[in-house]
Amino acid sequence: MALLVIILSLLVGTAVSVILLPKTLHLLAELVGRRLRHASRTRRELLLDRVAAETKALEAEGKTKSAEDDDWEKIVPSPKGSPPHRAQAGVEWNGVVGFFHPFCNAGGGGERVLWAAIRATQQRWPQALCVVYTGDHDVDKTAILRRVKDRFNIHLHPPTVHFLYLTTRHWVLASTWPRFTLLGQSLGSVILAYDALCLLVPDIFIDTMGYAFSLALSSWFFPSVPTGAYVHYPTISTDMLDSLQAGGQGVNAGAGEGYRGMAKKKYWQLFAQLYSKVGSTIDVVMTNSTWTQSHIQSLWSANRDARTALVNKDINVVFPPVAVEDVTEAVEVSEVSEKRRGPALLYIAQFRPEKNHQLILEAFASFVHSHPNLTAYPGQTPTLVLIGSVRGSHDDAKRVYNLRLLAHELKVDEHVEFLCDAPWPLMLEWMGKASIGVNGMWNEHFGIGVVEYQAAGLISVVNDSGGPKLDIVVKVDGKPTGFHATTVQEYADGFRKALSLSSLETLAMRHRARKSAERFTDRGFAEKWLANMEKLVALQVARTNN
Ligand SMILES: *[C@@H]1O[C@H](CO)[C@@H](O)[C@H](O)[C@H]1NC(C)=O
Ligand SMILES: *[C@@H]1O[C@H](CO)[C@@H](O)[C@H](O)[C@H]1NC(C)=O
Repeated sequence: MALLVIILSLLVGTAVSVILLPKTLHLLAELVGRRLRHASRTRRELLLDRVAAETKALEAEGKTKSAEDDDWEKIVPSPKGSPPHRAQAGVEWNGVVGFFHPFCNAGGGGERVLWAAIRATQQRWPQALCVVYTGDHDVDKTAILRRVKDRFNIHLHPPTVHFLYLTTRHWVLASTWPRFTLLGQSLGSVILAYDALCLLVPDIFIDTMGYAFSLALSSWFFPSVPTGAYVHYPTISTDMLDSLQAGGQGVNAGAGEGYRGMAKKKYWQLFAQLYSKVGSTIDVVMTNSTWTQSHIQSLWSANRDARTALVNKDINVVFPPVAVEDVTEAVEVSEVSEKRRGPALLYIAQFRPEKNHQLILEAFASFVHSHPNLTAYPGQTPTLVLIGSVRGSHDDAKRVYNLRLLAHELKVDEHVEFLCDAPWPLMLEWMGKASIGVNGMWNEHFGIGVVEYQAAGLISVVNDSGGPKLDIVVKVDGKPTGFHATTVQEYADGFRKALSLSSLETLAMRHRARKSAERFTDRGFAEKWLANMEKLVALQVARTNN
């Protein structure tokens, strides 16, 4: 009960301060901000001394920066899209960029984004200092950097990246907040951000874990410090709000009824309002996919558009980096390599129900039995190659057995090949021999496998939904990179269309597919990241010159 009272008063307090923002509170915040800045000044100087010392030591070892960063010149954005403060914001910009990432040693996709972002920033502004606020006390800088290298093959320049250790990370754990988790974790992130800002006030503050409230706190204390957010997932989504309605979908379906339901609905709505207020304080917003972008837009855009002080109102998609280069290096796309390809359809997916192998088999059977006349492969019969891992503890093996039976029933078993637990080199070999890449899953969130098809130059035939539709199998240079399908018949048509292109058009589409995959490389990520960083640096320069 006491906890409830505390939470409710915090809720009211935060709501009052964020929504009303009276002048006195503003003044108070700036006063606190000034104190924090003053208190962390010594640490800032010590850090900068350490950067200088480590740079010197590294140079003495004979490792010059340029040898390490041979590709940095390639990713400097072209001058035409550059902001007005470019002159001041050139390579010599030497501010401190604070990355708020309390779980930086987790080794997941979110961390890959963090490290790729830091590397790009280091290469663009060699004199800038990147500071990561983390709660991973058990690892030191050397251990973290080694892991980044081993796990992600990302080589950071050690002198200009540093770690500051937070002591209040437990406040953002879901287990700390058994009730009112959304609000609790958000408040927790405010406490954690205060912890971070006590350690050091950066010149630019970026959250890469989805703690938007921490950025709001920073901009409140330090109006001159630009803030940036890289959002993987909205804290509350419009789907969640809708799901409370009677007849909604998901775990909370219909939970909006009754007294408790009403309260829950009010709480979520209030939280969503707070979240969208917070979103309007952030100077530059990026999302990891079109799906997240549209959710964040529906929550934040109204408030962002209304805020006149905000220069960059748009919300940009910056795709996280995928290891596309592994495929492009191994698989050739050229006139010569076309001779090695046959009318094979490749489907790489675990043998799980949602991957919908059955439908793909049916579509393939319908396609084969229509005796297609394949312009590019005269006289050849198409084959379907199913590559996937079979998890021992699940019913995967049984599913494969049933799929074999189905292939037999559909009278295509001679043209279907099952490759269970195929090693990566064999997968690469098939990516070079096949012509088409297939995905049967509905509403796949992203679809790394489809990106790999494109990198290999395969023409995709995928479900008309989710990431494959919105983000991956899209037009390049105004022309398609594959086909979308919903029903068995549409899949069969997709196979036919893909295999009936002229050899010239086939090769052109393969090249477009590969170009499409480039958006997901480290390089593609770095370019987009830097375009957004340029905005933050320009803001920083403009605000401190005023
Ligand atoms: C974006 O992040 C979410 C949450 O981590 C993840 O489920 C989704 O696959 C990501 N999207 C991309 C394009 O990587
Ligand atoms: C493909 O996506 C649509 C929605 O776009 C869905 O209705 C359909 O069931 C999906 N098809 C398959 C085979 O998963």
